[in-house]
Amino acid sequence: MYNFEYKNPVKIIFGKGSISRVSEEVPADATILITYGGGSIKKNGIYQQVKDALKGYNTIEFGGIEPNPSYETCMQAVEMVKEHNADFLLAVGGGSVADATKFIAAASLYGDDDPWNILAHRYEVEVKDALPIGVVLTLPATGSEMNKNAVISRRSSQEKLAFDTPKVLPQFSILDPECVYTLPDRQISNGIADAFIHVMEQYLTFPVDSPLQDRFAESILMTLTETGPKILADKKDYNTAANFMWSATMALNGLIAVGVPQDWATHAIGHELTAFHGIDHARTLAIVFPGIMNIKRQSKKEKIIQYGERIWGITTGSDDEKIDKTINKTIEFFEQMEIKTRLSDYNVTAATIEKITERTKKRGSLFGENKDIDYNAVKAILTDRL
Ligand code: NZQ
Ligand code: ZN
Repeated sequence: MYNFEYKNPVKIIFGKGSISRVSEEVPADATILITYGGGSIKKNGIYQQVKDALKGYNTIEFGGIEPNPSYETCMQAVEMVKEHNADFLLAVGGGSVADATKFIAAASLYGDDDPWNILAHRYEVEVKDALPIGVVLTLPATGSEMNKNAVISRRSSQEKLAFDTPKVLPQFSILDPECVYTLPDRQISNGIADAFIHVMEQYLTFPVDSPLQDRFAESILMTLTETGPKILADKKDYNTAANFMWSATMALNGLIAVGVPQDWATHAIGHELTAFHGIDHARTLAIVFPGIMNIKRQSKKEKIIQYGERIWGITTGSDDEKIDKTINKTIEFFEQMEIKTRLSDYNVTAATIEKITERTKKRGSLFGENKDIDYNAVKAILTDRL
């Protein structure tokens, strides 16, 4: 196991009826900017619950944050923060609203330079400060509610880039599983698949003798494979919704990443598919991940076989046969979750593969736990998924 440091200060308030507790967590004297998405919270009553809880508080609102939140929209919110001197941001929504709010929090205090630098020059730019934020989570999927990451798209250049800094860790996140009740099926499928791949990015690498980390990861995978079909069949089953929500948070709050290698190539390549074609984040992952397993079957061999055996009960055949069966089981699971896994299912052709390959080459990007997925490997992985 590798050396590590781990600190996650995000306070989680979990359970039925917990949204009313937002008033205990926000500073009483703050000007609170409530951020939200396209309006689902107004239809399902979550907005009203937040407003009721914050009666008497000084709040202003910024709505209209889109899925795969854009830099352009975030910068409008930054203007509003400055105009009203907002000093606390409350995100009410899914990963997109949480991510946008993190970027707004950092961009508002970034100074005179263009805050796009935070994303475009992620490893050179230090985010020195950010406004404090809280989250009322309405969609289990990304783990954004308990991590330091955010992913922002720039529509004008068709780019989708991530940044991370502890400065944007939420002060608190409220997780009420009843929010799942109103999710469209598509978002439930997406949430399960996204959380599943988050675990994989931190698990399906190479062994470093870390059995506890492996079993943490496998426990989340098993819970997701059990919970996924159940929550899709009945989204108003409270306990299933609760287990779904907590699994998604645990999948990407940093705990399973410590002491082990991490991959993240599926995400990096998937972001390009969203950038060029607007495909839902989780669906891009379900397309790319089987390709990574196939093309990187040698370097990932031991972990793929362990995953196949412990999650899908695959114990017979040669190593290559076991790997093939494990890839097929993984694809079957996505299909069971009503997610298509081939580029052709989304009308993506070889022309896009060329564009992504060129972009990867130009940026000089190297992905994966061994940093050996270059533009040629990206091309092979995507071609495998046509
Ligand atoms: O916009 P509204 O009207 O709120 O509707 C949303 C949106 O249309 C709707 N929705 C959310 N909660 C609902 C609801 N509808 C009914 N009832 C509810 N309770 O669902 C739609 C999708 O929402 P979105 O926030 O976009 O989904 P998700 O949580 O999957 O977030 C995806 C974004 O997170 C990024 C992705 O790249 C993508 O941009 N990610 C962030 C990560 C992180 N910060 O660590 C990691 C992930 O890998 C991911 O990259
Ligand atoms: Zn993801």
